[in-house]
Amino acid sequence: MGIEDLGQVLNLLGPHRADASVLVGLDQRDDAAVINLGGPLALVLTTDFFTPVVDDAYTWGRIAAANAMSDVYAMGGRPMWALNLVGWPRETLPLELLADVLRGGADMATEAGMSIVGGHTVDDPEPKYGMAVVGTVDPERSMKMDAARAGDVLLLTKPIGTGIATTALKKQSVDEATIAAAVSSMTTLNDRASIECVAAGVKACTDVTGFGLVGHLHRMCLASGVAARISSGDVRLLPGVGDLVRAGMVPGGTERNMSAVKEFVTWNTDDITRTLMCDAQTSGGLLIAADPTVATDLAFSLDAAVIGEITSGRPGTVEVS
Ligand code: CO
Ligand code: CO
Repeated sequence: MGIEDLGQVLNLLGPHRADASVLVGLDQRDDAAVINLGGPLALVLTTDFFTPVVDDAYTWGRIAAANAMSDVYAMGGRPMWALNLVGWPRETLPLELLADVLRGGADMATEAGMSIVGGHTVDDPEPKYGMAVVGTVDPERSMKMDAARAGDVLLLTKPIGTGIATTALKKQSVDEATIAAAVSSMTTLNDRASIECVAAGVKACTDVTGFGLVGHLHRMCLASGVAARISSGDVRLLPGVGDLVRAGMVPGGTERNMSAVKEFVTWNTDDITRTLMCDAQTSGGLLIAADPTVATDLAFSLDAAVIGEITSGRPGTVEVS
């Protein structure tokens, strides 16, 4: 059996030894680890870093920081402290540009009320930036990937299409409105959505990132032993991304996502929609499985799209119409 995606390499490690303080660890494959310290506060640990997704260094810094913090919000936690992780081609790119990247990250951290307390930089032919983030969460109220139940309503807090938009930007063939909407979405923290979900008693949540909407939904369903049904027409899209797919602006990650989920997904849609539903997102929104008694109010107050529901079908399967 071959290894098809980088995440699968983790499986080669087998069950991971973890001490009793590890409430959520490698074996759960959730958004972030949760470490019990014995009181009402647990630690949330996560890291994320990547190559530039936009041309402007400062904006890239903001996006990378919002993206790195997102896994803490997906667990219902609050990001508290971070370490910068930097790869930089010192021979070919000015350090002033790196200062802009770090300033972007710092401004986003300030917006989140998080302190940057250190970091590490290495020489790297391709620039990379991100953070290791430590947050806190009440372990009794944390949100998890494996807590979705049949009957839950699925909400999504951000539009889909950042992978397609940033791919088109690299090929210089995207209009201003699409990029502006993508940047605005990627630099929006998932903080308020997370806080309101926890307040409403939501138990199941994840953030939509590299595996795309359907990939992350599949993972949530598999972990929870449930299935899901979504209506693609209810999923909000960034402006113009359908046309960009038609023009062939599809990132490699999105193609891989489509083939990774093919045994689990029933598609009653056209190919363009299928691509959009699998588009690899950067700093995407929260995908929330909410009890129907709170879902309508939550969707309204978060301006989230109601995209479908959790069902009791074969675990991990998703039906997209
Ligand atoms: Co995540
Ligand atoms: Co991550």
